[in-house]
Amino acid sequence: MDPKERVGELLHRALEEIADADDEGALERIRISYLGREGSLTAILRSIGELPPEDRAPVGKRANAAKNQLESALETAQEALSAIPFEAPVDVSAPGLPVDRGTRHPLRIVLDEVLDIFVAMGYSVADGPEVETEWFNFTGLNIPEDHPARDMQDSYYVGKDLVLRSQTSPIQLRYMREHAPQLPVQIVGPGRTYRRDTEDPSHSPVFHQCEALLVDRGITMGHLRGTLTEFARRLFGEHVNVRFRPSYFPFTEPSAEVDVTCTSCGERGCPACGGKGFMEILGAGMVHPTVLENGGYDPEAVSGFAFGMGIERLAMIKYGINDLRSFYRNDLRFLGQFGGGLR
Ligand code: PHE
Repeated sequence: MDPKERVGELLHRALEEIADADDEGALERIRISYLGREGSLTAILRSIGELPPEDRAPVGKRANAAKNQLESALETAQEALSAIPFEAPVDVSAPGLPVDRGTRHPLRIVLDEVLDIFVAMGYSVADGPEVETEWFNFTGLNIPEDHPARDMQDSYYVGKDLVLRSQTSPIQLRYMREHAPQLPVQIVGPGRTYRRDTEDPSHSPVFHQCEALLVDRGITMGHLRGTLTEFARRLFGEHVNVRFRPSYFPFTEPSAEVDVTCTSCGERGCPACGGKGFMEILGAGMVHPTVLENGGYDPEAVSGFAFGMGIERLAMIKYGINDLRSFYRNDLRFLGQFGGGLR
């Protein structure tokens, strides 16, 4: 028989056999009988050299094309067979495969709680950019160039006049400048913040803060104290007290560091609070007149308070966590413990 016809016939037969094959074993047998070492198509390909010279090219071409066609037919048939998952019958009443649901990250859970508390007290949520201008992060907040308070916040500069914000306080200024002279200004501003700190159990170069700002006529430190007491009790429980210690921030005057009752010992003093009975949760104060002015408000007519808290710190106190790095390690055994169902 003419070798070209023989190739055509082999291909035809092989394709018919493939169409009839009903398991992967049958396909493999077909592959071996045509394309294996002793296979009939292989034999033709091997004997091309013995053909008269003028036949070699056309037969070779034909046989190679047949080989490719067979290989892809085998592959397609193989895929079709392995795509049928069950021998059946399918039990449509069987339970489906469970899909794991994620949970909120513990930092998200705590931040959501903080925001809920303030929204319930009438605050709105504001935000601002993580890459901030020097003016919003420092100068406008009464921290001029050369002021030592800039050094305390080992900042990341990302260009001339641009810095990864070292605090959420610039949100205060942005919001006031957009809304002046509206009253009251009553916002919380959560966000990610950056400082050139080396990682250790209580520091991370990337962390989270939430800012709060209230500006209106006749706001006093009494309002600040009442607000913080209410906030701390809603977050940590009715039993906690709030304590103010004098402090310094360039953008508030007077300024305070604010502590709450230690959640481990209830003010008796223990290793968790270093024997103090209280734990520091945030910085606060009465908005500095210069900052009010920079925000577009008249410090003679209005006053306000502001505070800023670290979300990691709140979460560590609330859940009794002693190493902040556990928040960032993506260990699901840790992250799944806080019951933060999605909402
Ligand atoms: N921005 C301050 C900090 O990061 C916290 C603060 C905010 C203090 C608002 C007073 C008023 O430490």
